[in-house]
Amino acid sequence: MIQRYLGNKNSIIEPILTEVGKICNQGDWICDIFAGTLSVSMALKRSGYRVIANDINKFSYAFGVSYLKNNSIPSFDFNELNIDESKFCIGVDDSLLNLKGKDGFSFLDDKRNYSTYKNLVTILNYLNHITASEIPKQFRHTFFFDTYTPEGKNSHYKSLRGTSGKRRFFTPENGKRIDLIINKLLHWKKEKLLNEVQYLLLVSILAESIEKVSNTQGTFHDFPRDTFDSRALKKLFLRLPPFDDVISTENKHIIGKEQDSLEFIKEIRSHKLIYIDPPYNFRQYTSYYFMLNLICDYCEIESLEDYFNNVEFVRGQNLEKDFKSTFCQSSLFIPSLENLIKDANTEYVMMSYFNGRNHSNNSIPSKDKNGIEKIESLFNSELFVRGSFKTIPIKRLNYQSFNGHKAQELNEYLFIAQKNNK
Ligand SMILES: C[S@@+](CC[C@H](N)C(=O)[O-])C[C@H]1O[C@@H](n2cnc3c(N)ncnc32)[C@H](O)[C@@H]1O
Repeated sequence: MIQRYLGNKNSIIEPILTEVGKICNQGDWICDIFAGTLSVSMALKRSGYRVIANDINKFSYAFGVSYLKNNSIPSFDFNELNIDESKFCIGVDDSLLNLKGKDGFSFLDDKRNYSTYKNLVTILNYLNHITASEIPKQFRHTFFFDTYTPEGKNSHYKSLRGTSGKRRFFTPENGKRIDLIINKLLHWKKEKLLNEVQYLLLVSILAESIEKVSNTQGTFHDFPRDTFDSRALKKLFLRLPPFDDVISTENKHIIGKEQDSLEFIKEIRSHKLIYIDPPYNFRQYTSYYFMLNLICDYCEIESLEDYFNNVEFVRGQNLEKDFKSTFCQSSLFIPSLENLIKDANTEYVMMSYFNGRNHSNNSIPSKDKNGIEKIESLFNSELFVRGSFKTIPIKRLNYQSFNGHKAQELNEYLFIAQKNNK
């Protein structure tokens, strides 16, 4: 999954699960309404809950279909895809041997799982070694190389401050590799050679893999203007996704497709608990992570020429699908939160609140207005059963300071209360 994501709850999953376990039983429905990387949704899935997840980002939907809603390892037909299996399965057993004992890969101990996963890894191996000759001419585009690497013909930017240069989200070599892989997926999708889960799993794996070699400090809002950092100089390889959680249960789950949570909440079934992990600052996630969304959208874009001719800003984002969340606007945060809770068909509400500086080291601008007092007063209002509100402080390390060896404990809170449904 994506590790470098603002507000990602990976590091505090256990205390969240402990609190959830005090309210919910296995099989209960839980709604993860700002699902992001799905770190919480997947932990809930493996704990036996049924999950409803939604996020405004397309990549979150692609992950949701591939890892949350899907409970099996997809199997691909080499003949149909015209792949010489004997050539591309070479070395796969060694790669799988390396995964044994690693987190998320205990499913490989089962023979049937092993052989289905080997089929998936053979496809990834094929995509890792693909050359232009295997892509029909009409699909041989070079948009990522052209738009997001310093050698590209469409990567020139001029900033609002007047500085100019060429975009360097990827090295030219990785830009070419992204083009080859994504255009092969485009070919397969247009020829209807993949079902929905196969297709979304492959784009999800590509999105997760490019995140590991992007020349960014975590978000795609910008890139170092004159250099490539050491991560970005690594060659792009499709990562092998862990599947323990994916196949952990047979439960059904529900995933929203890029919906505004304020709308999505009105449509969904009753649930025991809603987990709310909103953004706490002005950063609009669809801008900050547009590249991941673009990877997941690419094969569905009607005119790729028009799309890439109309990218804007230093970062080169096409604003067609940009979304301004009311949760990122100080004055609208509390009213939006109130509406979300009012419309939720839930018994309990659990909300994450981070009382510190965020990963990019800027203080939270909305903290005064939407700080702990305002939220506490909402949780003490008539929206909730009187006396049911409790605050659970959680300690976690500020991972931004790891590099500077200044790891520091910060408080993250869970606000929990029973909704007043009378
Ligand atoms: C703090 S992050 C959630 C992180 C997530 N719990 C995780 O562990 O990855 C907030 C999320 O809210 C999403 N978001 C913000 N406003 C939204 C809205 N109005 N509707 C749906 N999603 C929204 C963002 O895209 C972002 O993924």
